[in-house]
Amino acid sequence: MRHTLTQMYDARVAQGTLRPDPAQHAILPMLEDLRNWLEAQPARRPGLLSGLFARSAAPPKGQYLWGGVGRGKSMLMDMFHAATDIPAKRRVHFHAFMQDLHRQLHAVRKTGTDDPLSPVAAEIINDTRLLCCDEMQITDITDAMIVGRLFQMLLDAGVVIVTTSNRPPADLYKDGLNRAAFLPFIDLLHNRLTVTKLESPTDYRQHRLTGAQVYFHPAGRAQSALNAIWADLTGGAAGAPLRLPVNGRTVEVARFANGTARASFWELCAKPLGSADYLSIAGAVRVLILEDIPHLSATNYNEAKRFVILVDALYEAKVRLICSAADEPERLYIEGTGSFEFERTASRLREMQSEGWAAVTA
Ligand SMILES: Nc1ncnc2c1ncn2[C@@H]1O[C@H](COP(=O)(O)OP(=O)(O)OP(=O)(O)O)[C@@H](O)[C@H]1O
Ligand SMILES: [Mg+2]
Repeated sequence: MRHTLTQMYDARVAQGTLRPDPAQHAILPMLEDLRNWLEAQPARRPGLLSGLFARSAAPPKGQYLWGGVGRGKSMLMDMFHAATDIPAKRRVHFHAFMQDLHRQLHAVRKTGTDDPLSPVAAEIINDTRLLCCDEMQITDITDAMIVGRLFQMLLDAGVVIVTTSNRPPADLYKDGLNRAAFLPFIDLLHNRLTVTKLESPTDYRQHRLTGAQVYFHPAGRAQSALNAIWADLTGGAAGAPLRLPVNGRTVEVARFANGTARASFWELCAKPLGSADYLSIAGAVRVLILEDIPHLSATNYNEAKRFVILVDALYEAKVRLICSAADEPERLYIEGTGSFEFERTASRLREMQSEGWAAVTA
C-alpha cells in the first residue's frame, strides 16, 4: 500500500524514531504535492534529447526549505526523495554538486565551445526530473553565476528542484563581493521556488547528542559506540568523501553524510594540512567524528600542532566534536615543547563535551 509522507512521518513518531514536530508536519503536504505530480508524469521516451518534458501540466514550484541547524530539513528532504517513486531523481550535496559541475565545465571547455554550461545542463536535464540539493550555500560569485544560469535552464525544462539551506535566499551571499550580480539569482529562487522556513524550535542534532558521551578513551574500545553515533546521525548512510576546494587545491575528508564527517586523527593531522584546510572543513560540517587521537609529544610535534589548529577551527565554527583518544584531554600532551599551548586545546576539548556546547542556533 502506498503511504503518504504524513503517514510515514506519523509511523516514525509512533515507533519513537522521530519526535512529533508541528513545524515539520506542516511541510509534508507541500512535499506530497510535488511527489504526486512527479509520480503522475508519463515516463519520458528514451532518446528524446533535451529532456523537455511534455508540458501537459506545468510543473509545480519546487521548494527552498531553510532554517536553523538540526531542524530536520535534510531529514524531510530525504524522506521525500526516498518516497518519490520515479527513476529520474537525484539527491546531491550542494558542495559536491558544484565540484562536479566545475569538473564537467572544465572538460567541455576543452572542446572549445563558447557556452559550456548548455551541454552540461542538457545532460542533467536528460536524466533528472527531480533534483534535491542539500545544504545550499554560496560563497563565491562565480559559483553564484553558474548556479543561477543552471537553475534557470533546469527549471525552464521542467526539472523540479528542492533545496535546503540555513539561510533565506536574500542572505545566501550576504556580504559577498559584487553582490549586485547575485540579485537576479535571489529573484529566481523567490519566483520559481516556494521559499519555506522550517520554524521548528528544536535543534534535533543537538538533542540527539545531549547527554550522550562524545569523548571516548581509550580509543580501542570506542569503535562500536562511534559506529552507533554515526548511524544515528546519518540514518545509516555509507557516506561519501567530502572534497573541499582550498586555495586551488582540494582537501578531502574520507566519509561525510548529512552534515556529519568521520575521519581518523591520522587522516586529518598527519598530512601537511594547514589552517585554511581546517577552517574549510570546520565550515562545511556540523559534526566531526575524529578517531584515534594518540598520546602527543615532541616526537609527533607536527601532528600535535595541526591538531591544535583543527580544534581551534572546530571550536570557532561551533562544530560538534565526537572523538576517541588514547587518554583524557589533559593527559594527551603532558611534556615537552608545545605542551603549554596544548592546555588551551585540552580545555576546549573539555568544553566541547559539555551539554550546552554548540547549542546556539544559526
Ligand atoms: N522530529 C525529529 N525527531 C527526532 N529526530 C529528528 C527529528 N527531526 C530531525 N531529527 C534528526 O535530527 C538530526 C538533524 O536533522 P537534519 O539533519 O535533518 O537537520 P537539518 O535541518 O538538515 O540541519 P542542518 O541545517 O545542520 O543541515 C538528524 O539526525 C535527524 O534524523
Ligand atoms: Mg541538513
